[in-house]
Amino acid sequence: MSRISTPPPGTGDIFPDEVNAWLAVENAARRVFSLYGYGEIRTPVFEYTEVFQRGLGDETEVVKKEMYTFEDRGGRSLTLRPEGTAGVMRALSGTDAVNGVETRVFYIGPMFRGEKPAAGRRRQFHQIGVENAGRVAPALDAECILALSQFLEEIGVGGFNLMINTRGVPEDRKPAEDALREHFKPVIDSMCEDCRSRLERNVWRILDCKQPECQAHIAAAPDAAALFAQPSRDYFNQVCDILTSLDVKFTVEPRLVRGLDYYVHTVFELTHEGLGAQNAIAGGGRYELNLPGINKPVRGVGFAAGVERLLMAREAMGVKPEPVRAPEIYLVSLGAKALAFNWKLAYELRRAGIYAAVEAEEKSMKSQMRSADRLKAAKVLIVGDAELEGGVADLKQMSDGSQRKIALSAVKEECMR
Ligand code: HAM
Repeated sequence: MSRISTPPPGTGDIFPDEVNAWLAVENAARRVFSLYGYGEIRTPVFEYTEVFQRGLGDETEVVKKEMYTFEDRGGRSLTLRPEGTAGVMRALSGTDAVNGVETRVFYIGPMFRGEKPAAGRRRQFHQIGVENAGRVAPALDAECILALSQFLEEIGVGGFNLMINTRGVPEDRKPAEDALREHFKPVIDSMCEDCRSRLERNVWRILDCKQPECQAHIAAAPDAAALFAQPSRDYFNQVCDILTSLDVKFTVEPRLVRGLDYYVHTVFELTHEGLGAQNAIAGGGRYELNLPGINKPVRGVGFAAGVERLLMAREAMGVKPEPVRAPEIYLVSLGAKALAFNWKLAYELRRAGIYAAVEAEEKSMKSQMRSADRLKAAKVLIVGDAELEGGVADLKQMSDGSQRKIALSAVKEECMR
């Protein structure tokens, strides 16, 4: 039996000493994405199941195998969001984004996928994502990659590998689809069960298969993007030209199709050497999403980065963890009157924005000094009942151990210096 303090597999608690790194990453996202005109959106962590079934595609691994789905009291099927795009687009489908008005939003929050837990792979993980909905233009796809790369540099995770590819648009894919089917058909019996069912239903998913027996056949597949009709090839060339003109380093990876079926045109994935097998720190691309109750697709371009993986990459890059805040002053109380005085003083100092620490009950001098050390307090004020009468107490500077007398009325000013 698991200990009660252990959360379910693939989830985790984030303690105060770790939260500072999370905040640093989240705040950098807020700062960088606002420079590109993105505003923060917060959507529910669960949606009607059809939002994901229709939005991500019934054939995707996520929809087929990984969703946490349950019924509400009224018998409606609900699902914990496995990713952010579908829910955000569901929200924007009630706005002018569906009529082609450019709408820029970003989100930060937990996502849920029933995957086998491993290092860097969780069942509850967190994404920071960006969606630019409404308009279609190669420059917007390129700009999305620029925003992501600026954000990664800002949090100390430069040195990533950027792979890009194109999925074209459905009307330009036919010759490529035929060529892929022709390539896989003669060898399909030696491929995995999933690939066998994908051949007719969605041949692109074969390119994303991770089974060892399928790898050689996937590696030998024709470069599908080269067979797309001209408009899709032109679109992709423009994206690549913009990135090249801005000195962005990337590799065109013809097998990159991404795991979700809503993608059209540009797709991209970023990996980082600092991670193990789960080395994708972010992924995204342009999409056309079909949602229940809306008769036209919602278009956009965006990406999501996995926060847990960003933090792992940051650590691997030697970024120092953000320190936990230490008290500006620790109030040592020697006697009941001093404790009552210090309690009041601590409240006053805190209201003035100063982090003051004080015990809840009478403790020995030694134990209080130990606490001050443990919390790494900058200063210690030692107040005894006698000092109270004189209105003066001892102030110890912890960095050099020096001690001097200070008027109790001057403590606030001293802490603010
Ligand atoms: P995704 O590639 O499925 O794309 O996920 C994006 C990132 O989330 C991954 O690169 C990875 O860092 C992180 N991630 C995914 N699954 C897990 C997991 N089980 N444990 C830990 N981290 C994970 C999407 O979700 C798309 N919605 C991205 C997008 C936005 N495309 C367009 N707009």
